[in-house]
Amino acid sequence: MSKATTGGGTTGDGTTGDTTLSETTRHTPVLLPQVLAALNIQASGTYMDATYGRGGHAGAILDELIANGRLLCLDRDSAAIAEARVRFGGDSRVTIFLAPFSALAQCADQVLPGLKFDGILFDLGVSSPQLDDASRGFSFMQDGPLDMRMSAGEGPSAADVVNGAPLSELIRIFREYGEERLAPRIARAIVQDRESQPFERTTQLAEMIARVARSKERHKHPATRVFQALRIHVNGELDELKAALDAAHARLAPRGRLAVISFHSLEDRMVKQFMRRHSLADPMYAGLPDMPVHARPTLKLVGKPILPDETETSSNPRARSARLRVAERLDQGIAA
Ligand SMILES: C[S@@+](CC[C@H](N)C(=O)[O-])C[C@H]1O[C@@H](n2cnc3c(N)ncnc32)[C@H](O)[C@@H]1O
Repeated sequence: MSKATTGGGTTGDGTTGDTTLSETTRHTPVLLPQVLAALNIQASGTYMDATYGRGGHAGAILDELIANGRLLCLDRDSAAIAEARVRFGGDSRVTIFLAPFSALAQCADQVLPGLKFDGILFDLGVSSPQLDDASRGFSFMQDGPLDMRMSAGEGPSAADVVNGAPLSELIRIFREYGEERLAPRIARAIVQDRESQPFERTTQLAEMIARVARSKERHKHPATRVFQALRIHVNGELDELKAALDAAHARLAPRGRLAVISFHSLEDRMVKQFMRRHSLADPMYAGLPDMPVHARPTLKLVGKPILPDETETSSNPRARSARLRVAERLDQGIAA
């Protein structure tokens, strides 16, 4: 985790607005009005955007906050955080952290020990600038190094995994994180090919997969699921999410809102089960007239999962698989 950057000019030029950003750094925020409604923003409240990206949601949250409102922005990608510092470095309501969101409690404590939030947002997955920058290696559509690390340079890259993991581990990764039914076939082909030539480029891997595995889904490239699986594995995405949901739950103020946008079924399932689990009373105490505090639910589900409408998906195809789930922290000791 890098040291916090607070507004008030500590980040250099303090430029605000989009004027310094090139086209390639843009990201269209998904379900924006729905997210703002979900967070139920109080003008002087304290909020966290745990996945800053290019600040689409963060900027809109800030528009609703007055001078004593507060927003903490996190991202593990240094390019995202560099943009945040340029754009919001001069804003005294904002504190910016280069950190994985599993460390959100430690970030909050840097601002104020034990700080709690009126709303915490996770907009999971990758941003458009990450996908569109071939040098980050996230996309099978563009040739680039097989990298996929959100925290650039930290830990093993996708190439390290593809060239180094045993066959059984590759099969597990493709099955578990990509739900790829042809996992064994693809993994065997990788192991055979890497003997003579290691995989270094995104298109090298994508083309090999296209040769050995035809996609059943007409509009899906055969490498889609393997690329998703490698990205999830390389970035430890499910472990990150599990730790972050627990931390967010502990840091929500009474009536604070948790809003999570997921883009694939693995993370959505985790979010759904997490919210459900905390919205139910301990069944051991079911039917008892006086339920002890520790057995009472701590979250209330807010509405049904929210999906983008057709207008949004036609103007922003990347919103297609988005699903927003919302829950509210219950006052301690008050049953749902
Ligand atoms: C979909 S984008 C967010 C876009 C943002 N809401 C906006 O409107 O510009 C997801 C961002 O979350 C970041 N991210 C993903 N997993 C993370 C993690 N475990 N910790 C911190 N940041 C993470 C990615 O680096 C990426 O910048």
